[in-house]
Amino acid sequence: MKRSIVTGGAGFIGSNLVRRLLAEGHQVEVIDNLVTGNRANLEDLGHHVELHQVNICDFEAILPIVAGADRVFHLAALPSVPKSIANPVPSHEFNINGTFSVYRAAAEGRVKRLVYAASSSAYGDTEILPKVETMAPRPKSPYAVQKLLGEYYASVFHECFGLETVSLRFFNVFGPRQDPNSVYSGVLSLFMKCLIERKAPVIYGDGEQSRDFTFVEDVASLLIKAAETPGVAGRVFNAGNGNRYTLNETWGLLQKIEGVSIPAGYGPPRNGDVRHSQADTTAAVRDLGHAPQYSFEEGLRATLDWYKKDHERRLALVSA
Ligand SMILES: NC(=O)c1ccc[n+]([C@@H]2O[C@H](COP(=O)([O-])OP(=O)(O)OC[C@H]3O[C@@H](n4cnc5c(N)ncnc54)[C@H](O)[C@@H]3O)[C@@H](O)[C@H]2O)c1
Repeated sequence: MKRSIVTGGAGFIGSNLVRRLLAEGHQVEVIDNLVTGNRANLEDLGHHVELHQVNICDFEAILPIVAGADRVFHLAALPSVPKSIANPVPSHEFNINGTFSVYRAAAEGRVKRLVYAASSSAYGDTEILPKVETMAPRPKSPYAVQKLLGEYYASVFHECFGLETVSLRFFNVFGPRQDPNSVYSGVLSLFMKCLIERKAPVIYGDGEQSRDFTFVEDVASLLIKAAETPGVAGRVFNAGNGNRYTLNETWGLLQKIEGVSIPAGYGPPRNGDVRHSQADTTAAVRDLGHAPQYSFEEGLRATLDWYKKDHERRLALVSA
């Protein structure tokens, strides 16, 4: 049985990945300090997953957990562009120093492979779409720089210390368990909450900015492929879907699915936001066997379904 460690495993993407790893027969342990994650994301898994409530910056604490693991999926981070601008110190500390600490523990602990959650924000605004891995990065925010540095360190740990690493540049990931309760939450989780509560979302800018929305199940599949495929250590891959939808189109599609009409409100554009985002998935398809299974609409329907059930569950808890 393979032993896999998921840093950030109590968060949105991490908790979905944990479920997939368990389904594939891995022994799974999570390192998470619950700064943005939530124990409830793992609650139904009971004793099948062990949660170590530890800060990844604490090298001495994470070394014994990580040592000897077959796989480390490094997803722990403060994952927000606006948060990194409003308050850059904690995101620098966690995303750079924490990442270094995880790589160091994985190298010293002789981990067989580490997969890193990189970010499409590294591209910044490019003239050319889709964005391909060979383009020069142009980060526009502290968060984007931090995530890019994590990629550089991943390939350097491979070159210099023999740790097998693969970086996946996630585009906009959406799906069940994405926290909609912060101003820094991902746009689709906020849209879901607004739709269920029949409230108008606030779109920052004119809504014509576009994103390559990727369903979390497809991301979990790719993370596992990146961990298992031989001959790809040291490399960086786009992990998007290859499509793009504007925020206006997306809110329109959600209203259509739900059969409602709720015009969005608009606010000023946000500093650090990229205008358009779309992945060239050629390398991931060719070299990792990336094969997204969900169309955008299928992903939206599955996600909305989950948020509705979660909403009902919360209402039942309050009235109990
Ligand atoms: N969601 C996206 O669209 C997206 C896009 C690009 C990249 N990413 C990357 O994917 C990863 C997961 O993102 P997510 O959307 O699931 O976010 P999330 O906030 O739901 O998950 C991050 C998890 O990391 C944990 N964490 C943060 N700092 C920590 C620390 N110092 N020590 C231990 N645990 C810590 C949090 O508690 C949380 O559970 C992040 O690395 C993020 O940068 C996400």
